[in-house]
Amino acid sequence: MMILVTGGAGFIGANFVLDWLAQSDEAVLNLDKLTYAGNPENLLSLQGDSRYLFVQGDIGDAALVAQLLARYQPRAVLNFAAESHVDRSIHGPEDFIQTNVVGTMRLLQSVRAYWQGLAEGPRAAFRFLHVSTDEVYGSLSPDDPAFTETHKIEPNSPYSASKAASDHLVRAWHHTYGLPVLTTNCSNNYGPLHFPEKLIPLIIVNALAGKPLPIYGDGLQVRDWLYVKDHCSAIRRVLQSGRVGETYNVGGCNEKPNIEIVHTVCTLLDELRPKGDGSSYKTQIAYVQDRPGHDRRYAIDASKIERELGWMPAETFETGIRKTVHWYLDHQAWVTNVQSGAYREWVKANYAERA
Ligand code: NAD
Ligand code: TYD
Repeated sequence: MMILVTGGAGFIGANFVLDWLAQSDEAVLNLDKLTYAGNPENLLSLQGDSRYLFVQGDIGDAALVAQLLARYQPRAVLNFAAESHVDRSIHGPEDFIQTNVVGTMRLLQSVRAYWQGLAEGPRAAFRFLHVSTDEVYGSLSPDDPAFTETHKIEPNSPYSASKAASDHLVRAWHHTYGLPVLTTNCSNNYGPLHFPEKLIPLIIVNALAGKPLPIYGDGLQVRDWLYVKDHCSAIRRVLQSGRVGETYNVGGCNEKPNIEIVHTVCTLLDELRPKGDGSSYKTQIAYVQDRPGHDRRYAIDASKIERELGWMPAETFETGIRKTVHWYLDHQAWVTNVQSGAYREWVKANYAERA
């Protein structure tokens, strides 16, 4: 038995593959294009492990995907592959449409053809699990109830619009062709292997480097943060027991304004790696120009996955963020390696104009 994971060299995909193989002997085939966000170093510990196979390629490459499906006969396809950074989607939406919309559609077509050719048993057991985001629901006012699975789809950024489009495609491939799909819509993840262009790893990395800690706008935008390993356990649970055709919201019940997140990270660093001059990392905080169209608040109502599948996060924010800060302190070489020329160019492009 084998599963096919797409985008498994990225932040969540790599955590998922590592957790999967730590708990199961079922093999994993990882198809990843290795964009700037894909890092084979994330999975270095699996080198020589016969349960793990890596293929560099695009989910939109129908010939390659058909060949892989025919050869390895996975019992499930889990689609993590995506362009995932809101700020990058504002600077250049094209790649987001190409991978998240066109790529997902092509992947669905390839998987449909494979699934239709399976014998009755494997066909009935097959699943296509699509990993999506709470950002498809748009932005909440302070007193609005949290997003449920039936909330209106109101994406506001090129990223969230492209993910919403992919969710619609997945739904349509189930409704029209009967493909046995599952969709998860998860809140903001944090944890090990997070690429340092996203808020939490960026703050840790900049703080240690003595650089400014950029806060967009007033810093009072609210996100619902979930430790990445809890997202992975939710995906495993949905794959195992989720009802075909359903979507499941996944979240940590942990709403916090950005400025509070940054203060927490600074306080942990003050404790674990105090600055030589005795000052707090908070002195590096710098308010910068806001993100255009910045969503004010996300919040997830995860009662469906808890009620139907018995899933709950294992980490609180306090335990998860402490583990995360420790991980970055212990993996400085990983950080240095991902700070390539392309990374530095992005930082220049995104922050120069906000100064
Ligand atoms: P990431 O950007 O860290 O990783 C994406 C991975 O996909 C990379 O390894 C990249 O090389 C690969 N990829 C990109 N385009 C590809 C293509 N055309 N073909 C094959 N591989 C391709 O993203 P992430 O944070 O790990 O997110 C994974 C998934 O989870 C995404 O679908 C994202 O929308 C979703 N999600 C992310 C979060 C979050 O907080 N990061 C929250 C909810 C949902
Ligand atoms: P991010 O990690 O990019 O995730 P998303 O936009 O998908 O929620 O950003 C999280 C929040 O942090 C978001 O409200 C934007 C904000 N932010 C900053 O204030 N400064 C930064 O340098 C970055 C990257 C994000």
